[in-house]
Amino acid sequence: MSAVKRTARRGRFIVLEGLDGAGTTTQVERLAAVLRAEGHAVLTTREPSDGPVGVMIRQALTGRLVLPRGAGPLAPETLALLFAADRTDHLKARVLPALEEGQVVLCDRYVLSSLAYQGASLPMAWVEEINRHAMPADLTLFVGVAPEVAARRRAARGGPEELFEADEAQRRIARQYEAALRRRGKGERVVRLDGSQSVEAVTAEALEEVRRLLGRKRAGRASR
Ligand SMILES: Nc1ncnc2c1ncn2[C@@H]1O[C@H](COP(=O)(O)OP(=O)(O)OP(=O)(O)O)[C@@H](O)[C@H]1O
Ligand SMILES: [Mg+2]
Repeated sequence: MSAVKRTARRGRFIVLEGLDGAGTTTQVERLAAVLRAEGHAVLTTREPSDGPVGVMIRQALTGRLVLPRGAGPLAPETLALLFAADRTDHLKARVLPALEEGQVVLCDRYVLSSLAYQGASLPMAWVEEINRHAMPADLTLFVGVAPEVAARRRAARGGPEELFEADEAQRRIARQYEAALRRRGKGERVVRLDGSQSVEAVTAEALEEVRRLLGRKRAGRASR
């Protein structure tokens, strides 16, 4: 069976999603610190991944990788396919091995990001189709903030602007996230957090959901 499709796994796969600047990286780090202190083995990881396709994507997002002859950025379809390709590599190289060891995997962005970002310029059903090989997460935490809040946090953080970070693009992506949440929220466990709160309050909300998931796992084992 393909590594990506394998479902027998012992760990738990938790994804954080949100607009650029919503605070997903902040929360991944904070959750990892708390869980490790409690004795959990935790892998933190991100998409685009550090694999070969992920490196290409990062170059494309920052304008370092463009089409020849001044033809501009990669086509949106190409970028969508690269994200899907990076995802299957990321699962094989990082996520599945950690899950098989029983680790808690905290992943900064996953399929929902593709639906929101690539779905902003392409049919969402197609983006979903090319991500068919990416197994669902056990829990997705959506850090919800208004685009204006995310923009303020990005500005405060500093650094160069990436491909999708212009305000108008972020408002469109925010709408796409809502559509993606409606689309995926029925079949998968997706929880919306109030990301406009303090960092500490968002972590507390997130932890409640994570503990519920991990508690269920322990209960499930005990009953076997
Ligand atoms: N709840 C919060 N309240 C106030 N500031 C926050 C909050 N969460 C994060 N920040 C700050 O906002 C900035 C963006 O946070 P972070 O880098 O975690 O966002 P992100 O969602 O990972 O962004 P990106 O998608 O661009 O990687 C950081 O400077 C961070 O310290
Ligand atoms: Mg981040």
